[in-house]
Amino acid sequence: MKKNTILPEPYKIKVVEPVRLIPKEAREKAMKEAGYNTFLLKSQDVYLDLLTDSGTNAMSDAQWGKLMVGDEAYAGSKSFYCLEDAVKEVYGYKYVVPTHQGRGAEHIISRCLIKPGDYIPGNMYFTTTRLHQELAGGTFVDVINDEAYDPQSEFLFKGNADLKKLDKLVKEVGAKKISYITVGAPVNMAGGQPVSIKNLKKVSQYCRARDIRVVLDAARAIENAYFIKTREPGYASKSVKEILLQMCSCTDACTMSAKKDAYANIGGFLAMNDAGLYEEAKNLCVVYEGLHTYGGLAGRDMEALAQGLKEAVEKDEWVAHRIDQVRYLWQSLDDLGVPLMRPAGGHAVFVDAKAFLSHLDHELLPAQSLAAAIYVESGVRTMERGIVSAGRDPQTGKNRKPALELVRITLPRRVYTQTHLDYVAEHIGLLYKNRKQAKGLEFVYEPKYLRFFQARFKPAK
Ligand code: F0G
Repeated sequence: MKKNTILPEPYKIKVVEPVRLIPKEAREKAMKEAGYNTFLLKSQDVYLDLLTDSGTNAMSDAQWGKLMVGDEAYAGSKSFYCLEDAVKEVYGYKYVVPTHQGRGAEHIISRCLIKPGDYIPGNMYFTTTRLHQELAGGTFVDVINDEAYDPQSEFLFKGNADLKKLDKLVKEVGAKKISYITVGAPVNMAGGQPVSIKNLKKVSQYCRARDIRVVLDAARAIENAYFIKTREPGYASKSVKEILLQMCSCTDACTMSAKKDAYANIGGFLAMNDAGLYEEAKNLCVVYEGLHTYGGLAGRDMEALAQGLKEAVEKDEWVAHRIDQVRYLWQSLDDLGVPLMRPAGGHAVFVDAKAFLSHLDHELLPAQSLAAAIYVESGVRTMERGIVSAGRDPQTGKNRKPALELVRITLPRRVYTQTHLDYVAEHIGLLYKNRKQAKGLEFVYEPKYLRFFQARFKPAK
Protein backbone atom coordinates (compact mmCIF):
# COMPACT_ATOMS: atom_id res chain seq x y z
CA MET A 1 0.00 0.00 0.00
CA LYS A 2 1.34 3.44 -0.92
CA LYS A 3 1.42 6.11 1.75
CA ASN A 4 -0.99 8.37 -0.14
CA THR A 5 -3.64 5.68 -0.62
CA ILE A 6 -7.14 7.04 -0.09
CA LEU A 7 -9.50 4.75 1.80
CA PRO A 8 -13.09 5.79 1.04
CA GLU A 9 -15.27 4.88 4.03
CA PRO A 10 -18.28 2.63 3.29
CA TYR A 11 -20.41 4.84 5.58
CA LYS A 12 -21.13 8.50 6.30
CA ILE A 13 -21.25 10.24 9.64
CA LYS A 14 -24.64 11.03 11.21
CA VAL A 15 -23.73 11.81 14.83
CA VAL A 16 -20.47 13.25 16.09
CA GLU A 17 -18.87 13.17 19.50
CA PRO A 18 -16.48 16.04 20.27
CA VAL A 19 -12.94 15.14 21.32
CA ARG A 20 -10.36 17.51 22.77
CA LEU A 21 -6.62 17.56 22.98
CA ILE A 22 -5.55 18.94 26.35
CA PRO A 23 -2.17 20.76 26.57
CA LYS A 24 1.03 18.78 27.01
CA GLU A 25 1.55 19.87 30.65
CA ALA A 26 -1.98 18.65 31.47
CA ARG A 27 -1.24 15.34 29.75
CA GLU A 28 1.94 14.93 31.81
CA LYS A 29 -0.07 15.56 34.98
CA ALA A 30 -2.87 13.20 33.93
CA MET A 31 -0.40 10.40 33.13
CA LYS A 32 1.34 10.83 36.48
CA GLU A 33 -2.00 10.79 38.32
CA ALA A 34 -2.95 7.63 36.43
CA GLY A 35 0.17 5.89 37.75
CA TYR A 36 1.59 5.70 34.20
CA ASN A 37 -1.09 3.16 33.33
CA THR A 38 -3.19 4.13 30.30
CA PHE A 39 -6.10 2.06 31.70
CA LEU A 40 -6.32 4.51 34.60
CA LEU A 41 -6.57 7.68 32.48
CA LYS A 42 -9.92 9.44 32.36
CA SER A 43 -11.31 9.30 28.84
CA GLN A 44 -12.01 13.04 28.93
CA ASP A 45 -8.23 13.57 29.00
CA VAL A 46 -7.73 11.39 25.91
CA TYR A 47 -7.73 12.82 22.38
CA LEU A 48 -7.84 9.63 20.28
CA ASP A 49 -8.74 6.53 22.24
CA LEU A 50 -6.88 3.63 20.67
CA LEU A 51 -6.73 1.58 23.86
CA THR A 52 -9.00 -1.09 22.49
CA ASP A 53 -11.48 -2.04 19.80
CA SER A 54 -13.60 -3.74 22.46
CA GLY A 55 -17.03 -2.16 22.92
CA THR A 56 -15.74 1.07 21.38
CA ASN A 57 -17.22 0.62 17.92
CA ALA A 58 -19.70 2.92 16.21
CA MET A 59 -23.05 1.18 15.81
CA SER A 60 -25.00 1.57 12.57
CA ASP A 61 -28.32 3.44 12.31
CA ALA A 62 -30.01 0.03 12.02
CA GLN A 63 -28.41 -1.09 15.29
CA TRP A 64 -29.54 2.09 17.05
CA GLY A 65 -33.03 1.44 15.69
CA LYS A 66 -32.98 -2.05 17.17
CA LEU A 67 -32.38 -0.63 20.65
CA MET A 68 -35.98 0.60 20.58
CA VAL A 69 -37.45 -2.83 19.88
CA GLY A 70 -35.54 -4.67 22.60
CA ASP A 71 -37.79 -6.99 24.59
CA GLU A 72 -36.87 -6.58 28.25
CA ALA A 73 -38.77 -9.66 29.48
CA TYR A 74 -36.84 -11.47 32.19
CA ALA A 75 -37.64 -14.84 30.65
CA GLY A 76 -38.01 -15.90 27.02
CA SER A 77 -37.26 -12.44 25.58
CA LYS A 78 -37.88 -12.30 21.84
CA SER A 79 -34.58 -10.42 21.56
CA PHE A 80 -32.80 -13.56 22.79
CA TYR A 81 -34.36 -15.67 20.04
CA CYS A 82 -33.32 -13.03 17.56
CA LEU A 83 -29.72 -13.26 18.86
CA GLU A 84 -29.84 -17.05 18.85
CA ASP A 85 -30.94 -17.07 15.20
CA ALA A 86 -28.21 -14.61 14.22
CA VAL A 87 -25.48 -16.65 15.95
CA LYS A 88 -26.70 -19.87 14.33
CA GLU A 89 -26.81 -18.21 10.93
CA VAL A 90 -23.42 -16.49 11.14
CA TYR A 91 -21.36 -19.11 13.02
CA GLY A 92 -23.28 -22.31 12.39
CA TYR A 93 -23.30 -23.75 15.94
CA LYS A 94 -26.44 -25.49 17.23
CA TYR A 95 -26.76 -23.98 20.71
CA VAL A 96 -26.23 -20.49 22.11
CA VAL A 97 -25.79 -19.24 25.69
CA PRO A 98 -25.64 -15.44 26.03
CA THR A 99 -23.13 -13.83 28.41
CA HIS A 100 -22.43 -10.26 29.47
CA GLN A 101 -19.12 -10.29 27.55
CA GLY A 102 -16.37 -12.65 26.41
CA ARG A 103 -14.91 -13.46 29.80
CA GLY A 104 -18.34 -14.54 31.02
CA ALA A 105 -18.29 -17.21 28.30
CA GLU A 106 -14.69 -18.13 29.16
CA HIS A 107 -15.64 -18.54 32.80
CA ILE A 108 -18.52 -20.87 32.01
CA ILE A 109 -16.67 -23.06 29.52
CA SER A 110 -13.68 -23.33 31.85
CA ARG A 111 -15.95 -24.44 34.69
CA CYS A 112 -17.77 -26.94 32.47
CA LEU A 113 -14.78 -28.62 30.88
CA ILE A 114 -11.65 -28.21 33.02
CA LYS A 115 -10.84 -30.58 35.85
CA PRO A 116 -8.06 -29.65 38.30
CA GLY A 117 -4.75 -30.92 36.88
CA ASP A 118 -5.92 -30.63 33.25
CA TYR A 119 -4.03 -28.91 30.44
CA ILE A 120 -5.44 -26.48 27.92
CA PRO A 121 -3.27 -25.91 24.87
CA GLY A 122 -3.80 -22.76 22.84
CA ASN A 123 -2.21 -20.66 20.09
CA MET A 124 -0.76 -18.12 22.53
CA TYR A 125 -2.41 -17.00 25.70
CA PHE A 126 -5.03 -14.33 26.09
CA THR A 127 -5.15 -12.63 29.48
CA THR A 128 -8.73 -13.35 30.61
CA THR A 129 -8.93 -16.73 28.86
CA ARG A 130 -5.83 -18.09 30.58
CA LEU A 131 -6.84 -16.73 33.97
CA HIS A 132 -10.22 -18.49 33.84
CA GLN A 133 -8.45 -21.71 32.84
CA GLU A 134 -6.08 -21.36 35.80
CA LEU A 135 -8.88 -20.49 38.23
CA ALA A 136 -10.60 -23.71 37.17
CA GLY A 137 -7.44 -25.65 38.08
CA GLY A 138 -5.99 -26.04 34.59
CA THR A 139 -2.64 -25.16 33.08
CA PHE A 140 -2.40 -23.31 29.80
CA VAL A 141 0.22 -24.59 27.34
CA ASP A 142 1.26 -22.41 24.42
CA VAL A 143 1.35 -24.31 21.11
CA ILE A 144 1.60 -21.40 18.67
CA ASN A 145 4.20 -21.74 15.90
CA ASP A 146 7.62 -20.15 16.48
CA GLU A 147 7.20 -17.48 13.78
CA ALA A 148 4.70 -15.73 16.06
CA TYR A 149 7.51 -14.76 18.41
CA ASP A 150 9.59 -13.08 15.75
CA PRO A 151 8.33 -9.53 15.07
CA GLN A 152 10.40 -9.46 11.87
CA SER A 153 9.01 -12.62 10.29
CA GLU A 154 6.71 -11.86 7.36
CA PHE A 155 4.90 -15.20 7.59
CA LEU A 156 1.26 -14.58 6.63
CA PHE A 157 -0.33 -16.93 9.18
CA LYS A 158 1.66 -16.32 12.32
CA GLY A 159 -1.36 -17.35 14.39
CA ASN A 160 -1.14 -21.00 13.28
CA ALA A 161 -0.91 -23.68 15.92
CA ASP A 162 2.15 -25.93 15.76
CA LEU A 163 0.89 -29.51 15.51
CA LYS A 164 4.23 -30.85 16.71
CA LYS A 165 3.98 -28.85 19.93
CA LEU A 166 0.41 -30.04 20.39
CA ASP A 167 1.39 -33.65 19.75
CA LYS A 168 4.27 -33.39 22.22
CA LEU A 169 1.87 -32.25 24.94
CA VAL A 170 -0.66 -34.97 24.10
CA LYS A 171 2.10 -37.62 24.26
CA GLU A 172 3.40 -36.25 27.56
CA VAL A 173 0.13 -35.94 29.49
CA GLY A 174 -2.33 -38.08 27.50
CA ALA A 175 -5.40 -36.85 25.59
CA LYS A 176 -7.67 -37.45 28.60
CA LYS A 177 -5.85 -34.76 30.57
CA ILE A 178 -6.55 -32.18 27.87
CA SER A 179 -9.81 -30.35 28.46
CA TYR A 180 -9.84 -28.78 25.01
CA ILE A 181 -7.68 -26.66 22.75
CA THR A 182 -8.42 -22.95 22.34
CA VAL A 183 -7.80 -21.50 18.91
CA GLY A 184 -7.76 -17.72 18.82
CA ALA A 185 -8.25 -16.52 15.26
CA PRO A 186 -6.69 -14.04 14.82
CA VAL A 187 -4.32 -14.04 17.79
CA ASN A 188 -4.68 -10.86 19.81
CA MET A 189 -1.42 -11.09 21.77
CA ALA A 190 0.58 -12.02 18.66
CA GLY A 191 -0.23 -8.81 16.82
CA GLY A 192 -3.64 -9.75 15.47
CA GLN A 193 -2.03 -12.36 13.22
CA PRO A 194 -4.41 -14.81 11.54
CA VAL A 195 -4.74 -18.58 11.41
CA SER A 196 -5.04 -20.30 8.02
CA ILE A 197 -7.95 -22.57 7.22
CA LYS A 198 -5.41 -25.25 6.34
CA ASN A 199 -4.04 -25.09 9.88
CA LEU A 200 -7.50 -25.07 11.45
CA LYS A 201 -8.42 -28.18 9.47
CA LYS A 202 -5.26 -29.94 10.62
CA VAL A 203 -5.91 -29.05 14.26
CA SER A 204 -9.47 -30.24 13.89
CA GLN A 205 -8.45 -33.56 12.30
CA TYR A 206 -5.81 -34.17 14.93
CA CYS A 207 -8.15 -33.38 17.82
CA ARG A 208 -11.17 -35.25 16.48
CA ALA A 209 -9.06 -38.39 16.14
CA ARG A 210 -8.27 -38.12 19.86
CA ASP A 211 -11.58 -36.92 21.21
CA ILE A 212 -10.23 -33.49 22.14
CA ARG A 213 -12.60 -30.56 21.71
CA VAL A 214 -11.59 -27.51 19.68
CA VAL A 215 -12.89 -24.20 21.06
CA LEU A 216 -12.65 -21.13 18.87
CA ASP A 217 -12.08 -17.73 20.44
CA ALA A 218 -14.33 -15.98 17.94
CA ALA A 219 -13.88 -12.38 19.13
CA ARG A 220 -12.44 -11.28 15.77
CA ALA A 221 -13.04 -14.40 13.67
CA ILE A 222 -14.65 -12.33 10.90
CA GLU A 223 -11.34 -10.50 10.50
CA ASN A 224 -9.57 -13.86 10.38
CA ALA A 225 -11.96 -15.00 7.64
CA TYR A 226 -11.07 -11.89 5.65
CA PHE A 227 -7.35 -12.68 5.96
CA ILE A 228 -8.04 -16.19 4.67
CA LYS A 229 -9.92 -14.69 1.72
CA THR A 230 -7.09 -12.29 0.87
CA ARG A 231 -4.04 -14.38 1.80
CA GLU A 232 -4.82 -18.08 1.40
CA PRO A 233 -4.80 -19.62 -2.08
CA GLY A 234 -8.24 -20.77 -3.26
CA TYR A 235 -10.38 -18.47 -1.12
CA ALA A 236 -10.43 -15.17 -3.05
CA SER A 237 -13.82 -15.84 -4.61
CA LYS A 238 -15.49 -17.01 -1.39
CA SER A 239 -17.36 -14.57 0.83
CA VAL A 240 -16.23 -13.83 4.37
CA LYS A 241 -19.52 -15.32 5.50
CA GLU A 242 -18.79 -18.64 3.77
CA ILE A 243 -15.24 -18.77 5.09
CA LEU A 244 -16.36 -18.02 8.64
CA LEU A 245 -18.79 -20.94 8.53
CA GLN A 246 -15.99 -23.18 7.29
CA MET A 247 -13.74 -22.03 10.11
CA CYS A 248 -16.40 -22.76 12.71
CA SER A 249 -17.12 -26.17 11.21
CA CYS A 250 -13.55 -27.14 12.18
CA THR A 251 -14.41 -26.46 15.83
CA ASP A 252 -16.87 -27.76 18.42
CA ALA A 253 -17.70 -24.58 20.29
CA CYS A 254 -16.78 -20.93 20.54
CA THR A 255 -16.45 -18.26 23.18
CA MET A 256 -17.29 -14.83 21.90
CA SER A 257 -16.64 -11.31 23.01
CA ALA A 258 -19.27 -9.62 20.86
CA LYS A 259 -17.73 -6.22 21.70
CA LYS A 260 -15.42 -6.67 18.71
CA ASP A 261 -16.59 -8.15 15.39
CA ALA A 262 -20.30 -7.52 16.16
CA TYR A 263 -19.93 -3.71 16.39
CA ALA A 264 -21.72 -3.88 19.72
CA ASN A 265 -20.79 -1.94 22.84
CA ILE A 266 -21.39 -4.90 25.16
CA GLY A 267 -22.21 -8.59 24.93
CA GLY A 268 -20.91 -12.06 24.39
CA PHE A 269 -21.95 -15.67 24.09
CA LEU A 270 -20.91 -19.25 24.20
CA ALA A 271 -22.01 -21.44 21.31
CA MET A 272 -21.59 -25.18 20.79
CA ASN A 273 -22.79 -28.29 19.00
CA ASP A 274 -22.81 -30.65 21.97
CA ALA A 275 -26.18 -30.92 23.76
CA GLY A 276 -24.57 -32.09 27.03
CA LEU A 277 -22.21 -29.13 27.18
CA TYR A 278 -25.14 -26.84 26.34
CA GLU A 279 -27.17 -28.17 29.25
CA GLU A 280 -24.37 -27.59 31.71
CA ALA A 281 -23.40 -24.17 30.33
CA LYS A 282 -27.02 -23.04 30.35
CA ASN A 283 -27.28 -24.07 33.97
CA LEU A 284 -24.08 -22.27 35.04
CA CYS A 285 -25.28 -19.22 33.12
CA VAL A 286 -28.10 -18.87 35.64
CA VAL A 287 -25.58 -18.90 38.47
CA TYR A 288 -23.11 -16.36 37.11
CA GLU A 289 -24.68 -14.31 34.33
CA GLY A 290 -28.47 -14.37 34.56
CA LEU A 291 -31.25 -16.46 33.05
CA HIS A 292 -30.13 -18.32 29.90
CA THR A 293 -32.33 -16.09 27.74
CA TYR A 294 -30.47 -12.91 28.67
CA GLY A 295 -27.11 -13.86 30.22
CA GLY A 296 -26.43 -10.46 31.77
CA LEU A 297 -27.60 -8.50 28.73
CA ALA A 298 -30.51 -6.12 28.30
CA GLY A 299 -32.97 -7.12 25.56
CA ARG A 300 -31.94 -4.05 23.57
CA ASP A 301 -28.28 -5.08 23.73
CA MET A 302 -29.14 -8.51 22.33
CA GLU A 303 -31.01 -6.79 19.48
CA ALA A 304 -28.08 -4.50 18.67
CA LEU A 305 -25.72 -7.43 18.82
CA ALA A 306 -27.81 -9.61 16.51
CA GLN A 307 -28.11 -6.79 14.01
CA GLY A 308 -24.36 -6.05 14.25
CA LEU A 309 -23.47 -9.67 13.58
CA LYS A 310 -25.63 -9.83 10.47
CA GLU A 311 -24.19 -6.56 9.19
CA ALA A 312 -20.64 -7.69 9.82
CA VAL A 313 -20.95 -10.48 7.27
CA GLU A 314 -23.58 -9.05 4.92
CA LYS A 315 -20.94 -7.48 2.68
CA ASP A 316 -17.19 -7.87 2.74
CA GLU A 317 -16.61 -4.11 2.36
CA TRP A 318 -17.07 -3.52 6.08
CA VAL A 319 -14.28 -5.78 7.22
CA ALA A 320 -12.14 -4.87 4.19
CA HIS A 321 -12.23 -1.19 5.08
CA ARG A 322 -11.32 -1.94 8.67
CA ILE A 323 -8.34 -4.08 7.75
CA ASP A 324 -7.27 -1.42 5.23
CA GLN A 325 -7.34 1.23 7.96
CA VAL A 326 -5.06 -0.89 10.13
CA ARG A 327 -2.75 -1.52 7.20
CA TYR A 328 -2.66 2.18 6.33
CA LEU A 329 -1.57 3.14 9.84
CA TRP A 330 0.91 0.25 9.86
CA GLN A 331 2.40 1.40 6.54
CA SER A 332 2.59 5.04 7.65
CA LEU A 333 4.53 4.05 10.76
CA ASP A 334 6.72 1.60 8.86
CA ASP A 335 7.61 4.37 6.40
CA LEU A 336 8.84 6.43 9.36
CA GLY A 337 11.09 3.57 10.47
CA VAL A 338 9.10 2.75 13.61
CA PRO A 339 9.78 -0.90 14.56
CA LEU A 340 6.57 -2.90 14.20
CA MET A 341 5.23 -6.40 14.51
CA ARG A 342 5.19 -7.63 10.90
CA PRO A 343 3.15 -8.06 8.75
CA ALA A 344 0.17 -5.75 9.44
CA GLY A 345 -2.45 -7.65 11.45
CA GLY A 346 -6.15 -7.41 12.15
CA HIS A 347 -7.38 -5.06 14.81
CA ALA A 348 -4.35 -3.01 15.69
CA VAL A 349 -0.84 -1.94 14.85
CA PHE A 350 1.63 -3.38 17.35
CA VAL A 351 4.82 -1.42 17.99
CA ASP A 352 7.85 -3.49 18.93
CA ALA A 353 8.63 -1.67 22.18
CA LYS A 354 11.80 -3.68 22.81
CA ALA A 355 13.27 -2.39 19.56
CA PHE A 356 11.76 1.12 19.94
CA LEU A 357 13.25 1.57 23.43
CA SER A 358 16.22 -0.72 22.93
CA HIS A 359 18.15 1.13 25.66
CA LEU A 360 15.71 -0.17 28.32
CA ASP A 361 16.08 -3.51 30.09
CA HIS A 362 12.98 -5.77 29.99
CA GLU A 363 12.49 -5.27 33.76
CA LEU A 364 12.11 -1.53 33.10
CA LEU A 365 8.85 -2.32 31.29
CA PRO A 366 9.55 -0.89 27.81
CA ALA A 367 5.98 -1.27 26.46
CA GLN A 368 4.37 0.24 29.55
CA SER A 369 6.85 3.14 29.32
CA LEU A 370 6.22 3.62 25.62
CA ALA A 371 2.42 3.63 26.00
CA ALA A 372 2.77 6.35 28.67
CA ALA A 373 5.16 8.35 26.47
CA ILE A 374 2.81 8.11 23.48
CA TYR A 375 -0.01 9.57 25.54
CA VAL A 376 2.12 12.46 26.82
CA GLU A 377 3.41 13.18 23.31
CA SER A 378 0.09 13.02 21.47
CA GLY A 379 -2.95 12.54 23.72
CA VAL A 380 -3.40 9.15 22.01
CA ARG A 381 -4.21 6.26 24.34
CA THR A 382 -2.67 2.87 23.54
CA MET A 383 -2.09 -0.29 25.56
CA GLU A 384 0.83 -2.30 26.88
CA ARG A 385 0.99 -5.91 25.66
CA GLY A 386 4.20 -7.24 27.15
CA ILE A 387 5.67 -8.18 30.51
CA VAL A 388 3.00 -6.35 32.54
CA SER A 389 0.11 -8.03 30.69
CA ALA A 390 1.81 -11.43 30.93
CA GLY A 391 1.65 -11.32 34.76
CA ARG A 392 3.29 -13.78 37.11
CA ASP A 393 3.59 -17.54 36.90
CA PRO A 394 1.09 -18.91 39.46
CA GLN A 395 3.52 -21.68 40.46
CA THR A 396 6.75 -19.69 40.90
CA GLY A 397 5.33 -16.21 41.48
CA LYS A 398 7.99 -14.86 39.11
CA ASN A 399 7.32 -12.39 36.30
CA ARG A 400 6.59 -14.16 33.04
CA LYS A 401 8.90 -12.75 30.40
CA PRO A 402 7.08 -12.88 27.07
CA ALA A 403 9.16 -12.85 23.91
CA LEU A 404 6.95 -10.09 22.53
CA GLU A 405 7.02 -6.70 24.22
CA LEU A 406 4.46 -4.66 22.31
CA VAL A 407 2.39 -1.51 22.43
CA ARG A 408 -0.98 -1.97 20.79
CA ILE A 409 -2.49 0.88 18.81
CA THR A 410 -6.00 -0.45 18.40
CA LEU A 411 -8.56 0.82 15.93
CA PRO A 412 -12.20 0.83 16.98
CA ARG A 413 -14.50 0.03 14.06
CA ARG A 414 -16.03 2.91 12.06
CA VAL A 415 -14.90 5.52 14.62
CA TYR A 416 -11.79 7.34 13.42
CA THR A 417 -10.94 8.95 10.09
CA GLN A 418 -7.85 8.70 7.95
CA THR A 419 -6.74 12.15 9.19
CA HIS A 420 -6.77 10.81 12.73
CA LEU A 421 -4.53 7.97 11.58
CA ASP A 422 -2.11 10.48 10.03
CA TYR A 423 -2.00 12.35 13.33
CA VAL A 424 -1.12 9.14 15.19
CA ALA A 425 1.63 8.21 12.76
CA GLU A 426 3.15 11.69 12.78
CA HIS A 427 3.36 11.87 16.57
CA ILE A 428 4.67 8.36 17.12
CA GLY A 429 7.22 9.11 14.39
CA LEU A 430 8.33 12.22 16.35
CA LEU A 431 8.60 10.21 19.53
CA TYR A 432 10.73 7.64 17.73
CA LYS A 433 13.21 10.37 16.82
CA ASN A 434 13.52 11.31 20.50
CA ARG A 435 13.28 7.77 21.85
CA LYS A 436 16.48 7.81 23.87
CA GLN A 437 14.91 10.29 26.29
CA ALA A 438 12.42 7.70 27.52
CA LYS A 439 13.10 6.29 30.97
CA GLY A 440 11.68 3.02 32.25
CA LEU A 441 9.00 2.44 34.87
CA GLU A 442 8.72 0.35 38.02
CA PHE A 443 5.69 -1.02 39.85
CA VAL A 444 4.33 0.78 42.89
CA TYR A 445 1.10 -1.25 43.08
CA GLU A 446 0.35 -4.65 41.63
CA PRO A 447 -3.10 -6.23 41.93
CA LYS A 448 -3.41 -10.01 42.14
CA TYR A 449 -5.43 -10.70 39.00
CA LEU A 450 -4.94 -9.26 35.50
CA ARG A 451 -2.52 -6.71 36.89
CA PHE A 452 -2.20 -4.64 33.72
CA PHE A 453 -5.69 -3.21 34.20
CA GLN A 454 -5.11 -1.59 37.58
CA ALA A 455 -1.36 -1.57 38.34
CA ARG A 456 0.38 1.71 39.15
CA PHE A 457 3.92 2.70 38.27
CA LYS A 458 6.53 5.41 38.81
CA PRO A 459 9.56 6.45 36.77
CA ALA A 460 12.48 4.10 37.45
CA LYS A 461 15.51 5.57 39.19
N1 F0G B 1 -10.64 -13.12 23.72
C1 F0G B 1 -10.00 -12.18 23.01
C2 F0G B 1 -9.19 -12.57 21.82
C3 F0G B 1 -10.08 -10.84 23.39
O1 F0G B 1 -9.43 -9.92 22.69
C4 F0G B 1 -10.85 -10.50 24.54
C5 F0G B 1 -10.94 -9.12 24.99
C6 F0G B 1 -11.52 -11.52 25.22
C7 F0G B 1 -11.39 -12.82 24.78
C8 F0G B 1 -12.35 -11.23 26.44
O2 F0G B 1 -13.52 -10.61 26.08
O3 F0G B 1 -13.33 -8.32 27.12
O4 F0G B 1 -15.50 -9.20 26.24
O5 F0G B 1 -14.52 -10.12 28.32
N2 F0G B 1 -10.17 -8.25 24.58
C9 F0G B 1 -10.18 -6.83 24.92
C10 F0G B 1 -9.00 -6.19 24.26
C11 F0G B 1 -10.24 -6.54 26.37
O6 F0G B 1 -8.82 -4.98 24.46
O7 F0G B 1 -8.28 -6.84 23.52
P1 F0G B 1 -14.26 -9.50 26.99
